Amino acid sequence: MSTITMKGVGVVPSKKELCVVSHPEPKITAPNEVRVRTIEVGICGTDREICTFAYGHGPTGCDYLVLGHECLGEVAEVGPGVTKFKVGDLVVPSVRRPCTDPNCKPCREGRQDFCFTWTFKERGINQLHGYMTEQWVEEETYLTPVPKDLRDLAVMAEPLTIAEKGLAQAWIVQKRVPGWEHDNLDGKGRGFGRNAVVLGAGPIGLLGAMKLLIEGFKVFIYSRSPKPNFKADIAEQIGVEYISSKEVTVDELAKKIGNIDLVYEAVGEGDVSFELARVLGINGVFIFTGIPAEKPQIPVFADTIIRNITLKNHALIGTVNASPQAFLDAIHDLGEFKKRWPKAISSLITGRHTIESHRELLTGKAEGIKNVIQF
Ligand SMILES: NC(=O)c1ccc[n+]([C@@H]2O[C@H](COP(=O)([O-])OP(=O)(O)OC[C@H]3O[C@@H](n4cnc5c(N)ncnc54)[C@H](OP(=O)(O)O)[C@@H]3O)[C@@H](O)[C@H]2O)c1
Ligand SMILES: [Zn+2]
Ligand SMILES: [Zn+2]
Repeated sequence: MSTITMKGVGVVPSKKELCVVSHPEPKITAPNEVRVRTIEVGICGTDREICTFAYGHGPTGCDYLVLGHECLGEVAEVGPGVTKFKVGDLVVPSVRRPCTDPNCKPCREGRQDFCFTWTFKERGINQLHGYMTEQWVEEETYLTPVPKDLRDLAVMAEPLTIAEKGLAQAWIVQKRVPGWEHDNLDGKGRGFGRNAVVLGAGPIGLLGAMKLLIEGFKVFIYSRSPKPNFKADIAEQIGVEYISSKEVTVDELAKKIGNIDLVYEAVGEGDVSFELARVLGINGVFIFTGIPAEKPQIPVFADTIIRNITLKNHALIGTVNASPQAFLDAIHDLGEFKKRWPKAISSLITGRHTIESHRELLTGKAEGIKNVIQF
């Protein structure tokens, strides 16, 4: 019997090649699986890095890896044991799959984002094919339902989960500080009265800023390009002051804001990140999202930073991947963003492209904010 194949965007690491691969059409092989037709897939820095062959491997025995981990799809078929989905439903899949170690409690409890063994697999990144192809099959447990009215935005759910997980952790950590969290009896949000700086105005930063705003924080975006620019315009549309690091130093920023209670780092650049860590306020929390490529050593004010971490009760946390709850929260919050800032949230998607544009999008100059490939 001949295998039906589909087009996919993939890399062949052994040949350092990016190409359109001929990928077998997937079939449901277990009762709890769902076959999904891809609607669109977002492109991010991780995909672009895989295209530099820094990392990224296909499944054992397969010489290519289908890319793509930020996806919106439509259910095309459900296995007989599927209970949560039906044909026609919109879904967003998660990325990481658990390790097999019976003693890895996070993985055994569906929290592979905290895997202890680091032998997890990730769709479109490491040992599992991604979603940049016409159809894929997945267990229903790794899918989050999407309301129909979020069809235009839900491809951004996965990058928003980074902020959801980051903030969820920050709330847990900051329970240590009496009164850090606003009681929210007035509905102003748990972050009311606290200053947050988002470092960077790419998709991760802008989505993070929106999340912080709906939590009630006073938000500032500190990023590179001076105004006027498209990202600063979006910041202003959502009511956030955009400040350029080319015009205002970190010390001037801290003086202007007062106590910086939270930093959401979304630049992936060590120098400016540790400069900002130096001015984090009393009892502050610093959330790192960046995954910078290896670069030469840089000087930082290490003693000042350590002294401040100790004396000002700083907490530094990272956020990667995300829990099923973070995916549910991301879908919910995209709905909130759409209600509050319909124009700004939709303008984060700066381009919808066909598969033919993959090379330019993945290896060319990164233009716009979030580019997606439609299938
Ligand atoms: N934790 C995770 O799971 C996860 C997931 C996805 C991405 N990430 C990471 O998150 C980071 C941000 O991702 P992204 O897609 O939003 O990136 P991006 O599109 O490249 O945006 C980066 C932003 O940071 C600004 N910037 C860069 N260098 C700067 C500097 N020295 N000073 C001030 N601002 C600077 C850029 O300014 P311009 O506007 O002037 O270019 C841009 O606005 C990356 O490191 C990425 O690897 C992490
Ligand atoms: Zn991504
Ligand atoms: Zn594990």
